[in-house]
Amino acid sequence: MADLREIIKGRRSIRSYQDKEVPEDSLNRVLESIQWSPSWANTQCWEVIVVKNPAAKEKLQEALGKTNPATKALVQAPVVLVLCGKLKSSGFYKGEVTTKFGDWFMFDLGIAAQNLCLTAHDLGLATVITGMFDHEKAGKAMGVPDGYELVSIIPLGYPAKDSPAPKRREINEFTHFEKF
Ligand SMILES: Cc1cc2nc3c(=O)[nH]c(=O)nc-3n(C[C@H](O)[C@H](O)[C@H](O)COP(=O)(O)O)c2cc1C
Repeated sequence: MADLREIIKGRRSIRSYQDKEVPEDSLNRVLESIQWSPSWANTQCWEVIVVKNPAAKEKLQEALGKTNPATKALVQAPVVLVLCGKLKSSGFYKGEVTTKFGDWFMFDLGIAAQNLCLTAHDLGLATVITGMFDHEKAGKAMGVPDGYELVSIIPLGYPAKDSPAPKRREINEFTHFEKF
């Protein structure tokens, strides 16, 4: 297993994939990393749709549209993971919102998505989180029921091309000591 720092720094958003199956064992490891993600009061509000069918991937691609840089990846990648969240669960107690931020499902799904991407990278697989698409269209195509939202579509497969690392802000640009 690679060093955690290397995994975190080496993971990239990959938008070009090889025509090569993802082993079932690797897929299970990726799903397991979601299973063990932390969540609000352990509510585990995530639901994951594993899409391999080419026609279904094309439907998702339609939701992304032509301008999203990850559009091609949706049909190239052998597996597409669709992250959905149960509403009114994370951040709620006895049906009532508990904080000023309301529903925390986006937060919990973000953590799950990062676990997914880091685990995939550790296994030699690539991913790209996508969030810029027609969520209504994608949700309909996937049959997401009321009370749930489709949040992110994440292609998974072996990378065909590496991506350069986009520049990061310096640590001292975002770190505040003692006070903002
Ligand atoms: C919430 C979220 C939504 C994103 N949506 C898209 C997207 O719709 N299309 C895309 O090509 N990349 C998308 N990305 C990938 C980012 O562009 C990428 O993470 C960022 O440029 C940093 O590059 P890196 O992941 O290689 O470090 C998204 C990333 C996040 C975290």
